Amino acid sequence: MKNIHKLVMAAFCAASSLAVQAQAPGTLNILGDNHVIYRLQSKHKFLILPIEEKEENAHLRVIRDNQVVKELNCRLAIDNVDYSVPLELDTHQDSDVLLDITFQSNRRSTGAVKDFVAWKMLKTSDQFDTSNREKYRPVYHHTPLWGWMNDPNGMFYKDGVWHLYFQRNPYGSYWENMTWGHSTSKDLAHWTFEGDAITPDALGTIFSGSSVVDKENTAGFGNQAIVAFYTSAGTNQTQSLAYSTDNGKTFTKYNNNPVITANVPDFRDPHVFWNEDIKAWNLILAAGQEMNIYSSKNLKNWVLESKFGHEYGNHGGVWECPDLMKLPVSGTHETKWLLICNINPGGPFGGSATQYFIGDFDGHKFTCESKPEVTKWMDYGKDHYATVSFDNAPDGRHVVMAWMSNWQYANEVPTMQYRSANSVPRDLGLFTFGDETYVSVTPSKELLALRSAKVGKPTEACEIVMDIRSQSKPTVITLSNDKNERVVMTYNPKNRTFSMDRTLSGMTDFSNMFKTVSIAPTYGTITQLRLFIDKCSIEAFDAAGKMAMTNLVFPTQPYNNLVVKGGAKTTIYALK
Ligand code: FRU
Repeated sequence: MKNIHKLVMAAFCAASSLAVQAQAPGTLNILGDNHVIYRLQSKHKFLILPIEEKEENAHLRVIRDNQVVKELNCRLAIDNVDYSVPLELDTHQDSDVLLDITFQSNRRSTGAVKDFVAWKMLKTSDQFDTSNREKYRPVYHHTPLWGWMNDPNGMFYKDGVWHLYFQRNPYGSYWENMTWGHSTSKDLAHWTFEGDAITPDALGTIFSGSSVVDKENTAGFGNQAIVAFYTSAGTNQTQSLAYSTDNGKTFTKYNNNPVITANVPDFRDPHVFWNEDIKAWNLILAAGQEMNIYSSKNLKNWVLESKFGHEYGNHGGVWECPDLMKLPVSGTHETKWLLICNINPGGPFGGSATQYFIGDFDGHKFTCESKPEVTKWMDYGKDHYATVSFDNAPDGRHVVMAWMSNWQYANEVPTMQYRSANSVPRDLGLFTFGDETYVSVTPSKELLALRSAKVGKPTEACEIVMDIRSQSKPTVITLSNDKNERVVMTYNPKNRTFSMDRTLSGMTDFSNMFKTVSIAPTYGTITQLRLFIDKCSIEAFDAAGKMAMTNLVFPTQPYNNLVVKGGAKTTIYALK
């Protein structure tokens, strides 16, 4: 499948290369076996870079007037072109653009640098075609228009608009050149790409973080300024901030960055929130396998208050992307604090997952109420990572989104134009079962508005609602296509489990870690299940919020059959 696609692409590219060659936009100067300068005069907006995914990164320095204006790594095409990406040029300048390009030294065995296909395929343009070319691109999940995406970052809500920033590579569909991309939505399901909001600088590339709406202008950047916190990933990881006075469209980096430093190698992903209990800001970040908690009055000067995590929960990997919030416990007048700790690897089925802790937080110290050996997972699928919440969500809601992938195979999933989607948005709460309090996860109410016609069979973008009939025998749900590629889900009321088997779900061989049967505790009975299907993902929820499971699937044809053994009243809604 993939190879056929590549052949078609190669043929198309070969045909068009003749035309492009005649009007190559620049001149190539060979400086060594692995080093060239490409000189360009252009009034066009973009230089279109041809990418070949199997190649190693070349290092590009964009030079203007003897100054480096941008640096990036990209897998410039050597033999074939898989796809292209746009490099934005400054059209207001008269001077030539120099691309100073160095290839990895082992390229000497590939052939002479002058013969690399990239030189024939480079072109300038005022357009970059972002129309979809991927059959797996979801309908109601956020995806980048092109290029790579991982963690959701800096999410906030303001004036009826949901803002989502995300870890992005604008120059390829694999992890590199970390930048905050920006998308907005009015319905939490359909998103508009707004461009790159925060780009790499001398302190490093831009790793994950959060944003807050500074309603009281505590930082002095302006009333209602958006203040974003991110990790500057340079030689070491430090924390920086940037602010926006145009509702998150453009950011100015603070001139006294970094604002938090430490002598710790994995030191990242600051999450900031206003803590009404202490009338101050708190910041939580991952420091190795612990979380550091800070406080501040002005968002610029931070005091380290405490650390949490030593010997608590799962330590099978690096702790990343924290969040901390106060939530009501369902059916009581109590509130408790939820500390989210994404971990990679160490997840229940291998690789990445979201663990959490419940306890108390007094603005200084988080105290976990469970025994250290207790581990709790927010979602029991394999593709739910880097979950964090929106700042300033309406009605006191705590809305989260995850990155719907797993570091075990995220760079290998069978898409090319883009890689990775976010989960559907979910609202968090707390419930008690036995002696423990757990987080409840419910699909956000905005998703109800996506329901269009009721349909008789599953479609590639639908929601299946099932009222479970039997609490004595298992309910077995098989979703399949005409090629008998299938996903089997089982609710077992006796064992109080829900499982999803994707071992025969379609394309699985891009990674030997993809075939999985994931299994979740249900903490009591499930009376209604909600399954969200969108081209290449299945998100299963107990409608009451006690169980969530998110898994990618790559059927070669959409699943169009549903068989339920054990009986359930089933309604299928096409989602738009
Ligand atoms: C989590 C993560 C973060 C880091 C980012 C880099 O997926 O590793 O800890 O900030 O990705 O892209």
